[in-house]
Amino acid sequence: MPPTPRRGARIAHIGIAVRAIDEILPFYRDLLGLDEHPLDDSDGARIAGLSAGPQLIELLEPLSADSPNSPISKFLERRGPGIHHICFAVQDLDGTLARCREKGVRMIDSTPRMGAEGKRIVFLHPASTGGVLIELTED
Ligand code: CO
Repeated sequence: MPPTPRRGARIAHIGIAVRAIDEILPFYRDLLGLDEHPLDDSDGARIAGLSAGPQLIELLEPLSADSPNSPISKFLERRGPGIHHICFAVQDLDGTLARCREKGVRMIDSTPRMGAEGKRIVFLHPASTGGVLIELTED
């Protein structure tokens, strides 16, 4: 079988940690004119999805203020609101993970799990990515 041609990753979404979706949503929806794109809750966060071209902006709000296990709660506590992660869609998630492992990239998830968009995801540690939390998903 000939090797599958490799194609570069594309940005799937940018996750932004917010304290209250309701306060921020009007900026993105009404002033920038982004269409809402419904998404399920995930990882202890309520998510408001907004289409920005083929990419999404995801506003991530902790489901409850007292959910210490929510990664978004922890992020807000430590750093305040802001860009939380960038998600890249890759054509071959398993192959990409294998290459990352081979090069010693630090992983947050050791194996892929289901993300809010019903696709397999993994998070890579910012220590290996230039300081940015990176999510990988399937294209
Ligand atoms: Co994400």
